[in-house]
Amino acid sequence: MTRCIGVLTSGGDAPGMNAAIRAVTRSALARGFEIYGVRDGYKGLVGGDFVKLDRSSVSDIMFRGGTFLGSARHGSFRESAVQDIAIEQMKKVGMDSLVVIGGDGTYRGAYDLCKKGINCIGLPGTIDNDCPGTQYTIGFHTALNTIVECVDKLRDTSASHHRCSVVEVMGNHCGDLAIYSALCTGAEIVITPEHPYDEAKILAELVHLDQVKKGRHALVIVSEKIVDVHELAEKISNMTSFAGRATILGHIQRGGSPVPQDRLLATRMGDKAVELLANNESCKCVGMINDEIVATDLIEALENPVTLKPDLMGVFERIA
Ligand code: F6P
Repeated sequence: MTRCIGVLTSGGDAPGMNAAIRAVTRSALARGFEIYGVRDGYKGLVGGDFVKLDRSSVSDIMFRGGTFLGSARHGSFRESAVQDIAIEQMKKVGMDSLVVIGGDGTYRGAYDLCKKGINCIGLPGTIDNDCPGTQYTIGFHTALNTIVECVDKLRDTSASHHRCSVVEVMGNHCGDLAIYSALCTGAEIVITPEHPYDEAKILAELVHLDQVKKGRHALVIVSEKIVDVHELAEKISNMTSFAGRATILGHIQRGGSPVPQDRLLATRMGDKAVELLANNESCKCVGMINDEIVATDLIEALENPVTLKPDLMGVFERIA
């Protein structure tokens, strides 16, 4: 039975994590539970780096990017002995339940703790939109907004110089940030991990854009970890009439104040996590499907992730 909850953020930070911590804290206090923040993700869990939270501890954080608790990637948390140390630390303060906010690596840590008798609930916090059990993750829409703002600026200068901007966006192995931003910025080409990379086809399309469609400039959005964007830009300069210029947006995509969509999602999900614990439910992850906040068994989400994504590449190919 839940009496005392810990909340942590783990993996790459995401805008909206603070709003999620706030919601978990306020919802826990409203239900009469004690609540601790765990600093720096699983690293802080193992080190017993806890801070008692009250209502005012989470005032004025909703609109801040990042996570005020800190986050870390803690590879050794996969080891059973390390997990046992974390459980001992939790016991010292009477912490019986945990809400973890992060991506699927974070969920795996929670699943291991569940197997050892700790009540855990996962919330999807990552800009990559690659968590199972949800259509959208906390942070995705803010990152998308940042990308769109940046690409709109690149378009201005690209159009003035008959250039082709090649823009690399994050996403890890998920192409959602790339395809959504390509649709929102009117890109001519998008490269995502879900579709085969065909360099010759891309170069031919750019030649066609210049010679047949009389395009004044071009925009190529590339999901990270597929191709070296500087090399691609150079090939574009050599083999088409556009001068290629590469931009890697990098960690700027992870920062900034969360957009209302992420604040709302984080708030609804945080409250749901505590509701599940209050109902003695554990080993679940929270998601949003068709605007409903839902819970899925962690094991089912991790082992049989269901694709909840719309076919946006089809739309892109028709209108680009
Ligand atoms: O998972 C979020 C993410 O930003 C990915 O998009 C990216 O590949 C990775 O984290 C970068 O990690 P780090 O901040 O550790 O360099």
